[in-house]
Amino acid sequence: MIMQERQVALVTGANKGIGLQIARDLAKHGLTVLVGSRDLGKGEVAAKGIGEDAHAIQLDVTDQASIAAAADRIRTEFGRLDVLVNNAGIASTAEPGISFEERLKFNRPSAAPLDYVRAVYETNVFGVMAVTQAMLPLLHEAPAGRIVNLGSSSGSLTLNSDPTYEHRHVFGSAYSPSKTALHSVTLAFAIELEATTIKVNAACPGFTATDLNGFRGTRTVEQGAREAVRLALIGPDGPTGTLSDEAGPIAW
Ligand SMILES: NC(=O)c1ccc[n+]([C@@H]2O[C@H](COP(=O)([O-])OP(=O)(O)OC[C@H]3O[C@@H](n4cnc5c(N)ncnc54)[C@H](OP(=O)(O)O)[C@@H]3O)[C@@H](O)[C@H]2O)c1
Repeated sequence: MIMQERQVALVTGANKGIGLQIARDLAKHGLTVLVGSRDLGKGEVAAKGIGEDAHAIQLDVTDQASIAAAADRIRTEFGRLDVLVNNAGIASTAEPGISFEERLKFNRPSAAPLDYVRAVYETNVFGVMAVTQAMLPLLHEAPAGRIVNLGSSSGSLTLNSDPTYEHRHVFGSAYSPSKTALHSVTLAFAIELEATTIKVNAACPGFTATDLNGFRGTRTVEQGAREAVRLALIGPDGPTGTLSDEAGPIAW
């Protein structure tokens, strides 16, 4: 198999929201973009909207068979992977119809059902580890592999330890701690890979209007995608093992 000349990027959860915008932006930068989507049909619609340099790929980050099939397909059809953006994430598994009181209970560490907490970690933390492990052989073969994980300032222990931090009340049972764990995973991979050409960083999009927050976010997806795209395209002098947003570094 001949390695194609254009760089190839995989974005997980790219059928909508920030992931779709990251995929659009990377295609605009001349990369071939693989639009990861757990529903292939939705991925195909998204890829078509981006253009001929985008291809849908079925990928559920909680399904090991789906991850392995995606890695095989990337190797056989594209022959390379330069950029992995671990974007897929969930805020909650709570049904939309549940009462406000029930939702508050889910967010309290003292009351949250552990199955609920595990399910959020399964996507936001273990899903990222599983996809990264599966894609690393390809990333090692690339001249300069880049991994970007979608983190969040809501998972910053430093910010949330400060009693005056305005968003502190959001730090609950599952989502924010899962992002804290994801930041740790980012650093762990960066440390393991620091002797290689692969760089691993976490990008916070800021509070962005998407399905994840019922479109209450104050930033557009164009703004939310920028830091992840910047980190996906950094050169050899770029950082590794960092957490940042558009304004600069964020304390872990
Ligand atoms: N929006 C914000 O304010 C904000 C702030 C900080 C960090 N982030 C992070 O940014 C990332 C993107 O979020 P978003 O706001 O764009 O949310 P979104 O619009 O809800 O998109 C989330 C994407 O992840 C996908 N996904 C969920 N579970 C998956 C799984 N098991 N396998 C594969 N894909 C899966 C969704 O696919 P389906 O369509 O199939 O559900 C969707 O494509 C997330 O990691 C989020 O935590 C967002």
